[in-house]
Amino acid sequence: MTTSRMPTSRSWVLRRFADVQAALAAPELVPPGTRALADPAHRDVQRSVVNLLPVSVVRAAMPALREEAQRLLVALPATSVRDFVGDVAVPWSEAVTSRLLGLDRATLASALPLAQGVFDAASMSDDGETTEDARHAAAMLAALLGGRTSPAVVQTFVALSQSLPGVVSGMMLALLEHPAQLGWLRAACRRDAADALTTDALTADALTADALTADALTATALTVAAHELLRYATPTTAVYRRALAPVRLGGCDIAAGDLVVVRLAEANRDGTAFPDPDRLDLSRGAPGHVAFGAGVHRCSGAVIVRLLVECMLEVLVTCDVTLAPPPDVGVTWNEGLSLRTPKALPVCASDAR
Ligand code: HEM
Repeated sequence: MTTSRMPTSRSWVLRRFADVQAALAAPELVPPGTRALADPAHRDVQRSVVNLLPVSVVRAAMPALREEAQRLLVALPATSVRDFVGDVAVPWSEAVTSRLLGLDRATLASALPLAQGVFDAASMSDDGETTEDARHAAAMLAALLGGRTSPAVVQTFVALSQSLPGVVSGMMLALLEHPAQLGWLRAACRRDAADALTTDALTADALTADALTADALTATALTVAAHELLRYATPTTAVYRRALAPVRLGGCDIAAGDLVVVRLAEANRDGTAFPDPDRLDLSRGAPGHVAFGAGVHRCSGAVIVRLLVECMLEVLVTCDVTLAPPPDVGVTWNEGLSLRTPKALPVCASDAR
């Protein structure tokens, strides 16, 4: 069943790609706590994200962020099983957060536990409403990051420090499970342009220009791969909407006041939108995925996150360290109602140092 109703709570769950897209575009359905699909306060938040963190600032930080990722990977000892989440994804995301937001060590250290409180409350929420505890932690975080008056600073800090490690770790797990795909990306990034083009590697859509330079080819391969990894390992599995007025969606009559659970993860594995959807295919190019939502509430940080994913991907495939899953140690998961990312991702490092 793709659409289901929980009779007592008047909640609906939408899973098909087409239904999810329609729900995110429907003016009758709004994020919990808001009164219209788009209002001036909402536009202020979107604008302030762009002002707080222009893409040019993120691009300028890339060399330092690449270097930091490389440093963390090279530091993994080749003799023991390590945790990619704790040893690489978390410290890298914290470095990203402090660099992009210009925070000193002390502020970062005080802010992280508060951000975790906000994040945990949000990922455990079963209706998308902000809890009292989360509001309190967010207010303390805003005060701590004070001086930075942007209304987006709390959301940006929480996303970069708490969501990014899960995104990067989910991507890493998908690559560990698909070594051939990792090999394809390595070939593309090692400027093996001719091979990449003559095998079935890059999608025709991604390569419409006849004469891409080697750098552009690498950049294209990373972008195409990042989209597919975000589709395949969708970290935010669901978002919530409240109906302001009756609306018919996915064959269901949703009444005013009903809650709608919009399942992004299942939509991203819908075969009508993505053929052979459970197959990771880095050359597929899946820019239509809904890992960042869709419509007016699509993630304002989506471009930044994609650039950060590409940055980590490039380091993973170009540095001398190779990671492999250890034979007997399994992955554990952070599994909230609206989130699924690795909590611990055991890896063995080997290298050509
Ligand atoms: C790190 C991984 C991230 C993931 C997986 C993610 C995911 C999402 C998703 C799924 C939504 C849609 C919410 C909905 O439709 O109800 C969203 C909204 C949003 N995200 Fe992100 N996000 C991430 C990072 C960021 C970053 C770094 C920023 C800020 C720089 C950011 C700012 C926002 C804002 C402001 C919204 C609300 C947009 C609106 O209502 O117009 N996100 N995000």
